[in-house]
Amino acid sequence: MFKLGIIGWRGLVGSVFINRIFTSNIIKYLEIYLFSTNKILNFNLNNAFNLNNLINMKFIVCCQGSNFTKKVLKLLLLKKWSGYWIDASSYLRMNKFCTLIFDPINKINILKNIKNQKIYSGSNCTVSLCLLTFSNLLKLNLIDWIIATSYQAISGAGSKLINELVNNINKSHNLSKNLLTLEKQTKQSFKKENPILFNLIPWIDKKVKFSQTKEEWKSSSEASKILNRKILIDSNCVRVSSLRCHSQLFTFKVNKNISINDLYYIINNKFIKIIKNNEIDSTKKLNPFNVSGNLSLFVGRIKKSLIDNRIFSLFSIGDQLLWGAAEPLKRFLEILIEELL
Ligand code: HSE
Repeated sequence: MFKLGIIGWRGLVGSVFINRIFTSNIIKYLEIYLFSTNKILNFNLNNAFNLNNLINMKFIVCCQGSNFTKKVLKLLLLKKWSGYWIDASSYLRMNKFCTLIFDPINKINILKNIKNQKIYSGSNCTVSLCLLTFSNLLKLNLIDWIIATSYQAISGAGSKLINELVNNINKSHNLSKNLLTLEKQTKQSFKKENPILFNLIPWIDKKVKFSQTKEEWKSSSEASKILNRKILIDSNCVRVSSLRCHSQLFTFKVNKNISINDLYYIINNKFIKIIKNNEIDSTKKLNPFNVSGNLSLFVGRIKKSLIDNRIFSLFSIGDQLLWGAAEPLKRFLEILIEELL
């Protein structure tokens, strides 16, 4: 049996991770310990700040966020902890001692590193979903560049925005069906706040270089680290009021002449559900509400550009809590346990 400690198990990613672990064959090899950063009444939990507790774990899956990882991992390593740290936050991702885990793309690299590396991290949710969409095209080295425009769900920003949306909804009642009156009503209701309801925010996370946001910067940098080569992804990230699932419109250039039928054939794999490019399928199936909770990525609106024969576009939607976060961590643990047995 291996001791698995889970920190941040009550959060969105942590709870989805626990659900996924219980569906996996590796559950029979695991003794699970739940760690908490604060005391919950009547609940006997391990204190996540107590290194003497953490040090007994063979694996620690940390979904608590960057600040916790920053504070605790170093102290644990100073105590010569020899287990595996598997992180969901962005804190370790670009560190040279950390391997980014996304096994549909970099399983060979993961297997190579398991022998001598102990620190692993899942990548950003839009990056994982982008790489899964393009996994076959990337393996065949067919991609020249990608422009990604995201439509990211409020749950990607955690409970704060979810609460905000619910408060917005509670504040709006008896609304007019006439646009001009409706607009006036909502402007009056939300005088001081910028609501997420009826709205979007074209900015996610901090500013970084080249006028990009950090969320946008992650696309190229994390994807390049996973692929172990430079990939050009120009990204624009937008928050919308869908509850769950990140949608992305990709425009991309390939480096060979391929037909639209070839593209359908190449993109298709066991993780992807292709949605036919017609009105009924696109409106009924290709939307966050329908994709939520689904382990497949839904990919549709596949088109060749009118501007250039080698440019295509497609719309891809994936559950950011599953393939975008918890699933790569669970799959890594499966690989790790198989190697250690
Ligand atoms: N950085 C992501 C977001 C979190 O803000 O949506 C992953 O879902």
